[in-house]
Amino acid sequence: MGSLLEVDDLHTYYGEAHILQGVSLAVGEREVVTLIGRNGAGKTTTLRSIMGVAQPAKGRIAFGGENIAGREPHEIARRGIAWVPEERRVLPNLSVADNLRLAMLGAGVKDAGGTLLAEVFEYFPRLKERIDYRGRFLSGGEQQMLAIARGLVAKPRLLLVDEPTEGLAPILVQTLTGVLAEISRRGGTILLVEQNLEVALALSSRLYVIDQGRIQFSGTPDELRREPAIQQRFLGV
Ligand SMILES: Nc1ncnc2c1ncn2[C@@H]1O[C@H](COP(=O)(O)OP(=O)(O)O)[C@@H](O)[C@H]1O
Ligand SMILES: [Mg+2]
Repeated sequence: MGSLLEVDDLHTYYGEAHILQGVSLAVGEREVVTLIGRNGAGKTTTLRSIMGVAQPAKGRIAFGGENIAGREPHEIARRGIAWVPEERRVLPNLSVADNLRLAMLGAGVKDAGGTLLAEVFEYFPRLKERIDYRGRFLSGGEQQMLAIARGLVAKPRLLLVDEPTEGLAPILVQTLTGVLAEISRRGGTILLVEQNLEVALALSSRLYVIDQGRIQFSGTPDELRREPAIQQRFLGV
């Protein structure tokens, strides 16, 4: 009770395929909670279900005490959940600045003095240097930074981030891990999807291990460290 996000017994289908088979999880204010599991486990489907992009057939999703299951994605966004999708979706023909302005517009956020933009550039000095570059000319790491920055300028109460470190060089994994830690340190709340166990253990207050659409383990990083069998069975470590 009292968590910012509470997901209870979520079931989601794609056609006949029963993908999420009773997922329950909670994210408290200022927590970083990670959903971890191998490819096809149901991580993205969980985020899509929370955002209303996939329609859960059954289950409750409470955000700030209100049931949001079955609502439209834009309504859910307006209530304060921002989603940074796995595929990033940076607009290739718009500049970094315009990608960010569009995200603010979509979220109904005004940034008259440019303070919000300045704040986001504190996390990503690299993006500030690239402010006039069009999306298509950004590296993979820069696109990931922009995708997260777009989430931040929506001033969300909860940020959903899907595999931000996927496919990035170790140095960029480190940079992005640092940024997520800093967002958390400044009071942000994050539901993270990761396959990188080291990143997940370093960032999270708690973790959920998902496999075949079911939560198989939940606990703190220390508790997961003490479960090599769980790590081996569900994470292939
Ligand atoms: N649009 C879709 N239509 C049908 N099946 C899908 C679709 N998207 C994902 N799936 C299937 O749902 C399962 C969970 O996928 P997903 O949530 O994307 O896993 P993860 O993000 O953990 O890798 C997988 O078996 C995947 O093949
Ligand atoms: Mg995924």
